[in-house]
Amino acid sequence: MISSKLSVVLGLLALPGAWATSYSMVQEYAGTTFFDGWDFYGNYDNLTNGDAIFVDANQAQSLKLAYVNDAGNAIIKVDNASTVAYNDKRNTIRINTKDRYEVGSVWITDMLHVPFGCSVWPAWWSQAPHWPVGGEIDTFEGVNQVTMNQMTLHTEPGCTQVNPVQSSTLVNSTDCSFQANSNQGCVVTTPSPQSYGEAFAQAGGGMFVTEYASSGISIWFFSRSSIPSSLQSNASSVDTSALGTPVANWPTGGCNIGNFFQAQSLIFDITLCGDFAGNAATFAQTCSGTCYPDYVVGNGSTYDNAYFEVQYVRVYGANGQNTTISAAPLSISRPSTKAVAGVAAAAAVLGLAAW
Ligand SMILES: *[C@@H]1O[C@H](CO)[C@@H](O)[C@H](O)[C@H]1NC(C)=O
Ligand SMILES: *[C@@H]1O[C@H](CO)[C@@H](O)[C@H](O)[C@H]1NC(C)=O
Ligand SMILES: *[C@@H]1O[C@H](CO)[C@@H](O)[C@H](O)[C@H]1NC(C)=O
Ligand SMILES: *[C@@H]1O[C@H](CO)[C@@H](O)[C@H](O)[C@H]1NC(C)=O
Ligand SMILES: *[C@@H]1O[C@H](CO)[C@@H](O)[C@H](O)[C@H]1NC(C)=O
Ligand SMILES: *[C@@H]1O[C@H](CO)[C@@H](O)[C@H](O)[C@H]1NC(C)=O
Repeated sequence: MISSKLSVVLGLLALPGAWATSYSMVQEYAGTTFFDGWDFYGNYDNLTNGDAIFVDANQAQSLKLAYVNDAGNAIIKVDNASTVAYNDKRNTIRINTKDRYEVGSVWITDMLHVPFGCSVWPAWWSQAPHWPVGGEIDTFEGVNQVTMNQMTLHTEPGCTQVNPVQSSTLVNSTDCSFQANSNQGCVVTTPSPQSYGEAFAQAGGGMFVTEYASSGISIWFFSRSSIPSSLQSNASSVDTSALGTPVANWPTGGCNIGNFFQAQSLIFDITLCGDFAGNAATFAQTCSGTCYPDYVVGNGSTYDNAYFEVQYVRVYGANGQNTTISAAPLSISRPSTKAVAGVAAAAAVLGLAAW
């Protein structure tokens, strides 16, 4: 027999309001210490077949590919100063947080500029160490000259987007399994040109909020002029129930968050061409020519806009819980083959650039 106390608890759990929506700041990556909490990949892109070398921390500093600018913002960029010879790759950055964040976490980034341009494939995302186990959450991602951000989950089989409460009607796919649709993931597009590319910067940038909760995963995007007042100050706490309807939402009903997701490491990366941006059909949608020889090779002037300018990343934990797993001697090294449409076609293109 269920005790009356337990049935009260079960009743509460059925109400959305019973889920934690209030979070307190546990970590801020900002200012001159921004890069202290991150590991640099330090290897060529052996994850998504990009024509890119993710440099180590020393090279990132000496080549000025990751630094804090005079305004106090973190710059994460592709090398636009070097001439790359045919068959070589171009230097760029991939960093992941040393700490990982458990279910019951929110992460917010405030950015002034995001990378864009033909052959450029940037992402602000997260994953557990043993992909696809533990899942992947892509908050910000795009390729080439697309005009809108895409948001995606990648998981083991069995996670789908069902009955989302979200403002976007641009749902590209609902099966999050890495085995479905060539690992496209369950993709929702942000229905705003200000969420990507030149229009993002022209609008003064904006804010992406990611909530990783046991009730589901949700993402909000706010262009500069529509950032809610509760997030405009140095908010030491956030209440996600006050942010309005998220632009994308994957409720636990179709995807058991506890089963498919584990503590996430947060990642910024910019690769070039590769499985997604370099896919011939995808590339032809917004760019002319061929990804590697016509863009990566040469003097790099095509990469003047291939940078993130980040005011801060803040991480919050559900009130009363410690959701931080402090830096362990563990590096994220498993492949994360992100959205892939036509791997064979991409491989043909990429063959040109094989080492
Ligand atoms: C998703 O759908 C939107 C709207 O139809 C489209 O603009 C976008 O290219 C699609 N994204 C992908 C990755 O197919
Ligand atoms: C907010 O935080 C930033 C970075 O920590 C700091 O430079 C700024 O002075 C703070 N602003 C206020 C109003 O506290
Ligand atoms: C870089 O290469 C492009 C394309 O080949 C060319 O148009 C441009 O003038 C070059 N820039 C410099 C500074 O050499
Ligand atoms: C690289 O791009 C930046 C803008 O992102 C620009 O200020 C700089 O002059 C460019 N460097 C070269 C060598 O063209
Ligand atoms: C949270 O737990 C981690 C262990 O994973 C510990 O290192 C850290 O100090 C704890 N943080 C707080 C604020 O208690
Ligand atoms: C990528 O390179 C790193 C560093 O050499 C290595 O630890 C990792 O196993 C490689 N990953 C794959 C998928 O090859």
